[in-house]
Amino acid sequence: MASGLKYFVGNWKMFGIPTSFKILNRINSNFVKNKINKENYKVIIAPPFTLLHDYSKRFKNKKILISAQNCFHKDNFGPHTGNISPYMIKKLGIKFVIIGHSESRASGENDNIIKEKVYLALKNNLNIIFCIGENIKDKRRKKTLIVLRKQLTKVLKRNYNFKKIIIAYEPVWSIGSGKIPTANSLIHITAFLKKFVKKQFKLSHLPKILYGGSVDKKNIASFKSISDLDGFLIGGASKSSKNFIDIIKNFYK
Ligand code: PGA
Repeated sequence: MASGLKYFVGNWKMFGIPTSFKILNRINSNFVKNKINKENYKVIIAPPFTLLHDYSKRFKNKKILISAQNCFHKDNFGPHTGNISPYMIKKLGIKFVIIGHSESRASGENDNIIKEKVYLALKNNLNIIFCIGENIKDKRRKKTLIVLRKQLTKVLKRNYNFKKIIIAYEPVWSIGSGKIPTANSLIHITAFLKKFVKKQFKLSHLPKILYGGSVDKKNIASFKSISDLDGFLIGGASKSSKNFIDIIKNFYK
């Protein structure tokens, strides 16, 4: 059963215009209205860069937290057309950034770039939602755990503040496909990630692990039994307030 603090993170990807804040208004009011004490959860939404400034102001003292979807791997200001540094994100008052999403990896981000991003985001005191996940080939070859281990060790370091790092396990084959892992494999992978990260990076606590990939209001119930999971990274279903609210409702039903 659901216990402990859970995160429901919405990743809007390339979606949203200024008036889409209405979606967040509805999610925020529902969050405030329906929050029952025993349901301990946080809602974080990651709109595109174009909306970050406006939304960070609108939702400043609200329950909903705003996250950036990515950041550049160089900090402060510089000659990097079209890019946004972790410093610039921090200066908006934003506290979260997604790093290492498979869609960003697919457009050229490698482990070295991701490593720089994580380092600079932490330097700017941002909380990181760090995405890892195997592709379908890795899965078929039974290389999932090897891939995850490599994605973690190439990027993270022992001296990092892991209280500011949330790991999102997102199998690439599951993103936007409607396919989700079996409960058994997710139980196994979540337990592996918790144990591995704690040991490898010498943590005194277990790391937070989210699951992402085709989470929707229908299948959310099937994740309830995976008590180790600390929440969800939700793409497609986070663009509609109704779908997103139903996910949370159905999770706690
Ligand atoms: P999806 O995306 O929920 O649309 O599969 C998840 C993600 O990419 O974070």
